[in-house]
Amino acid sequence: MRKNGALLVSIVAAAIFFTSNAIAGKVEVLHWWTSGGEAAAVQELQKMLEKEGHDWQDFAVAGGGGSAAMTTLKSRAVSGNPPTAAQVKGPQIQEWAELGVLTSLDSVAKAEGWDNSVPGVVARVMKYEGSWVAVPVNVHRVNWMWMNKAVFADNNLSYPKTWDDFFAAMETLKKTGITPIAWGGQDWQEATVWEIVVAGVGGNDFYQKALVQADIDALKSDTMVECFEVMKKMKQYTDASAPGRDWNLATGMVIKGESAVQFMGDWAKGEFTAAGKTPGVDYDAVPAPGTDDAFLFNVDSFIMFDVKDKEAKKAQSAMARLILSPEFQTVFNLNKGSIPVRSGVAAKPFDAVAVASMKDFADTAKSGGLMPSMAHEMAVSPAVRGAMFDVVTNFYNSNMSAAEAAKKLVAAVEEAGM
Ligand code: GAL
Repeated sequence: MRKNGALLVSIVAAAIFFTSNAIAGKVEVLHWWTSGGEAAAVQELQKMLEKEGHDWQDFAVAGGGGSAAMTTLKSRAVSGNPPTAAQVKGPQIQEWAELGVLTSLDSVAKAEGWDNSVPGVVARVMKYEGSWVAVPVNVHRVNWMWMNKAVFADNNLSYPKTWDDFFAAMETLKKTGITPIAWGGQDWQEATVWEIVVAGVGGNDFYQKALVQADIDALKSDTMVECFEVMKKMKQYTDASAPGRDWNLATGMVIKGESAVQFMGDWAKGEFTAAGKTPGVDYDAVPAPGTDDAFLFNVDSFIMFDVKDKEAKKAQSAMARLILSPEFQTVFNLNKGSIPVRSGVAAKPFDAVAVASMKDFADTAKSGGLMPSMAHEMAVSPAVRGAMFDVVTNFYNSNMSAAEAAKKLVAAVEEAGM
């Protein structure tokens, strides 16, 4: 692993150093925001930059969770043609910074007072050796359950608070002929559901140990076996077309009432919003069973590549400044389903789901329930995350027993961690 990493470091660094070919005033932005809600949100940034006279060249690489986008980014960087800015998050920010290929955002950070407006837990991820090298966009909460209101009401069901209630409701709904759970069969989506179950079944301390510290005792525990069992139990309430399904299509099933629930981060709300739906009227979102006091956070961010061109540099700093402006934080997060990442943004225009999220974000920061999402690159190293994804998806899509999955998890994590 290490050797490969070092090789990539030198190839990428050399390639970028020798061929920086940005065009004046133009920002080429690589991101993976292509669903209805995501695209509406990112277009707000484009509009604001264009208003300041900069050119936006959109480089969207479809694929929820961003792994296709990250592959494309690496190959562009290796061939000496990185975009001006790229959506990159978590530990990968540090990896890019280590290569010495990123623009320092310190001057804009200083002028805009980021150290005072961005929470320390987020700022630490955005900085490399004390310097700002990434700009955070939002805070997503992962552990939500999205529900079609009419489907529950028509079947006299209340929203489940425990996993037992949940499965009882799914059983009732299955008999009506609908697909109770809208499932997107892709590894990152399965890992998303798994981590929600780990928090919901195991509780906050268990989540911390298992998915943040990758603690072997936690990974091989009976609690982990139970988490796998609960996750697998969901499968009987999904449909045959689930494998490969994109997350936003699964959200669409809930929007249309073809399904009752989806477990997904609040980018799902962006889809409800784009479809003109209102929380409390058409749909509702509550924390998944057992996760009321947990906030699994996922922060999106952008890095900027070191460009020589003066105009391009100006465009980069404008982009960084705009991203953390209260105006952008409002309009972007209204469309995206997330909440502002900086302080000083009015809660007023946000809906009840976002307001609940803001309150829970503040409360869990004090209680210890504010925890980084493993599936969304906030917690363990990329290698350990990859190992977890493999085991979870193989388990879910085979006849592997829950006990065997826990064993495989330990082996895979141990190997990746070495
Ligand atoms: C997440 C990302 C979100 C959302 C989601 C689906 O990793 O943080 O902003 O876009 O993927 O694509």
